Amino acid sequence: MTADRPGGRDAPLAPVLEQPYIRCEDVFKIYKSDELEVVALRGLDLEVYRGEMMALVGASGSGKSTLLNILAGLDQPSAGRGEVGGRDLLTTPAEELVDYRRSEVGFVWQQTGRNLIPYLGARANIEMPLMIEGASRGAARERATDLLERVGLADKARNRPDQLSGGEQQRVAIAVALANNPPLLLADEPTGELDNATAGEVFDVFAQLNEQTGVTIVIVTHDASIIERVHRVVAFRDGKTSAEIVRRTRFSREEQSDVDEYAVVDRSGRLQVPRDIADALGLGRRARVSLVGDHIEVRADDGAAAGPPPRAPSNVPPPTPPSAPPPEAP
Ligand SMILES: Nc1ncnc2c1ncn2[C@@H]1O[C@H](COP(=O)(O)OP(=O)(O)OP(=O)(O)O)[C@@H](O)[C@H]1O
Ligand SMILES: [Mg+2]
Repeated sequence: MTADRPGGRDAPLAPVLEQPYIRCEDVFKIYKSDELEVVALRGLDLEVYRGEMMALVGASGSGKSTLLNILAGLDQPSAGRGEVGGRDLLTTPAEELVDYRRSEVGFVWQQTGRNLIPYLGARANIEMPLMIEGASRGAARERATDLLERVGLADKARNRPDQLSGGEQQRVAIAVALANNPPLLLADEPTGELDNATAGEVFDVFAQLNEQTGVTIVIVTHDASIIERVHRVVAFRDGKTSAEIVRRTRFSREEQSDVDEYAVVDRSGRLQVPRDIADALGLGRRARVSLVGDHIEVRADDGAAAGPPPRAPSNVPPPTPPSAPPPEAP
């Protein structure tokens, strides 16, 4: 069943016919200030299945954080359909979004300082969201101890954030985000302030938790090594998804596994030609597309630079429309 599953890995398992857990269709997000409008998402389509661990990559300003904030219930789309677990994020009233944020999502920010309370130890930080939800002190301690073990920090339970390394702080932050057992874990550049080796350790913790608990994970990152740890990488360009890289073989930290790279075709059949190919072909505003056997061929417009359609010279009278009445006899 490995090969059939979206994401291609046999792990905490989504039946093949399951509905997507996250479904974005034609999502727009427009930020308006006094005179300026920024279209941060322009018709974005994305599906994520329960139990998937995936990454979003893309140039700065391509809309990654905007989407993550929408999925986190921190912001709402301007138009389109954005659903998580069957809940429509466009129409959910603000009060209900508060509940949604508490029960459905855990969030890890890039800035280590934003994730943790500075004057509490690691375990107390994890206990905090549990106590807020009404857990007893004993139950909170038990859960926090278990999570500290899972992120490999059982021996640092009493350390405050300033007594932990950056990577350790992010591992505690993951434990805090998962304290109330949300089905969805979102992380916006969680390793942005870490060196490569430490970033790898933090990604490993995400991967282990995904495998052990089946929590769905979406990570925004600039770190190319993420492909080694996720089922799928989706690339953003100008507020839309443009490409997908899917692992073909089973997840394994030891083996280099094969990956397939796809261009995304949106629901209207629009396909983004990868930028390097567009540049190599010299694609301008128009291209010739033809069906050749079982594939299509795309060629740069071989005419001059694409401009307006040719016009008749001005000394030639325009043709008489076929429907024009014949001139009347005198
Ligand atoms: N609150 C806001 N008000 C106005 N414009 C915004 C706001 N948030 C984001 N934008 C704009 O929306 C676009 C997408 O921003 P976003 O933060 O989603 O990009 P990103 O892909 O996360 O970039 P980065 O990799 O730099 O974090 C950018 O042009 C940004 O300037
Ligand atoms: Mg961002």
